[in-house]
Amino acid sequence: MRITVLGASGRIGRQVVHILKNQRHDALPATRAAGVDAYSGRGLASALSDTDAVVDATNAATTETEEVVDYFRTIAHNVQRAAADAAVRRIVLVSIIGIDEFPAGHYAGKVAHERAYREGPVPVRILRAAQFHEFTEMMLDWTTQGDTAYVPKMRTRLVAARTVAERLAAMVVEPDAADLIEIAGPHELNLAAASAKLAARRGAPTYVEEVILTDDPNHHLQADGALLPGPAAIIAGPTFDEWLDAHDPA
Ligand SMILES: NC(=O)c1ccc[n+]([C@@H]2O[C@H](COP(=O)([O-])OP(=O)(O)OC[C@H]3O[C@@H](n4cnc5c(N)ncnc54)[C@H](OP(=O)(O)O)[C@@H]3O)[C@@H](O)[C@H]2O)c1
Repeated sequence: MRITVLGASGRIGRQVVHILKNQRHDALPATRAAGVDAYSGRGLASALSDTDAVVDATNAATTETEEVVDYFRTIAHNVQRAAADAAVRRIVLVSIIGIDEFPAGHYAGKVAHERAYREGPVPVRILRAAQFHEFTEMMLDWTTQGDTAYVPKMRTRLVAARTVAERLAAMVVEPDAADLIEIAGPHELNLAAASAKLAARRGAPTYVEEVILTDDPNHHLQADGALLPGPAAIIAGPTFDEWLDAHDPA
């Protein structure tokens, strides 16, 4: 198959390209550096011409609610329009488990992303993933001040980005994949505790503190388990500890 991958320079997208190429599919990385901007629409028509399917693994640079909703909604509308013009068979989107009730920030943007894609006309398959093992790296990067990372309270079932990319690639090429699949890792984890394990392996930051950000409208939902998968979810390794051993050996 000929498959255009948006977000092909990112954590998920680059692995999807790699997996599809290994399977001898014609995977076309569409990046802004190569002149394809899914938000402005620049380069989309030519990136999608002669393609059978599109993977959307884009991410947003903002978490401000109005901006991120506009960003993801606009991308979905642009991609749908260009895909319909190019007679693309299907679009596959990576999203996040449990986000339906989240009122703000990135999660609200992803709800808008999903909804705008579902308006069609091109059929859409959505893979809702738990937070990636790699999310702990992002947390340490984003929240460290001095010698302490301040990680928001979150119940999660971390999953490897590679595992998510493999399922995403399968959803593009399988003729009869479901329209909505959830994927999560083997164990429920506390995000701060998992981030602390990573920090200990790396020797920095010295401390990881769990915080409840009461000014974040999402804080109750993420602390109370709204981001955990439902009973039908695919549960797939490696475990967080196995991932740590592979990426940051002790
Ligand atoms: N991280 C997690 O734990 C997690 C869990 C579940 C789901 N997800 C979802 O997975 C998706 C991908 O996340 P990620 O962590 O792989 O992202 P990432 O590493 O931040 O990569 C983002 C990608 O989006 C591309 N991009 C940004 N703006 C673009 C634009 N205007 N047009 C075209 N491409 C654009 C970037 O490409 P260039 O800058 O090169 O153009 C880059 O390749 C996100 O939507 C996220 O919600 C993430």
